Amino acid sequence: MKGIILAGGSGTRLYPLTKSTSKQLLAIYDKPMVYYPLSVLMLAGIREILVISTPASLPALRNLLSDGSQLGLDISYAEQAEPRGIAEALLIGADHIGGGPSALILGDNIYHGAGFPRILRASRERLDGCVLFGYPVSDPERYGIGETDARGVLVSIEEKPLRPRSDNAITGLYFYDSDAVEIARDLAPSARGELEITDVNLQYLKQGRASLFRLGRGFTWFDAGTHDSLLAASQYVQVIEKRQGVRVACLEEIALRMGYIDADACHRLGAGMKNSEYGQYLMQIAQSLG
Ligand code: DAU
Repeated sequence: MKGIILAGGSGTRLYPLTKSTSKQLLAIYDKPMVYYPLSVLMLAGIREILVISTPASLPALRNLLSDGSQLGLDISYAEQAEPRGIAEALLIGADHIGGGPSALILGDNIYHGAGFPRILRASRERLDGCVLFGYPVSDPERYGIGETDARGVLVSIEEKPLRPRSDNAITGLYFYDSDAVEIARDLAPSARGELEITDVNLQYLKQGRASLFRLGRGFTWFDAGTHDSLLAASQYVQVIEKRQGVRVACLEEIALRMGYIDADACHRLGAGMKNSEYGQYLMQIAQSLG
């Protein structure tokens, strides 16, 4: 399965913060935002990843993540010239996807919860059509919303409904089988001029091949699209990291635990930033797991 991180968009909702930098490079406490979606793909066992962003932001993202080999990954890059919709990522990424299954994640989505790696792996394994991930929210009119019946079967999907039928937001992580690119090719732009990811998901739903995995209330999901959610996500990560002494979305640690790199490599990465607590953490982890 190939991975795509969509990290473009104009970021105007976060102005002036994003006037001269990409939103996905802003800090979520101790690391850049894009680390969080990248960590999700890594935990799902996905190592070939395409990062899509604006022409202006791509150089900085490339500078940060390079070709991914330091993490045992293969990271490539592609431009989205204009924010023409989330589903356009499937078209831009068509060659990368190469006719197989794919996982698309939005560059501003942050997931954290016990057992998530197991959920990701299980979702990959039982993929028939698409798997979406739902999360209960207090402001459902801001999201794509999935309604399920009494048995938990997905029955409707609506993008930012005025009168939501449920409080289950469809979060920005989508697992697709090999049909997604073809479905995206047939889409027409919506009233707001975008290729909507909700329309891709609706096609799968029509075919009876869309399932929703509900991330429960013990789980945490943010889309860091506003100043308040940016701060909330940072505070959340700070509390977890300080209280537990572990790091959330620490890419080098995940690479080590997943067997993508060895302890020596992890230690070297830490030593390269030994003045930061993050670097010191990496050296400790490498020693304790080495
Ligand atoms: O975060 C989950 C929500 O993301 C879903 O519940 C919605 O169904 C989905 O449409 C999307 O809603 P948003 O209102 O958050 O979409 P937004 O236009 O803000 O785009 C989400 C991220 O994707 C944002 O960081 C910018 C990036 N993006 C967006 C578009 C439309 C791109 O990189 N390129 C694009 O063309």
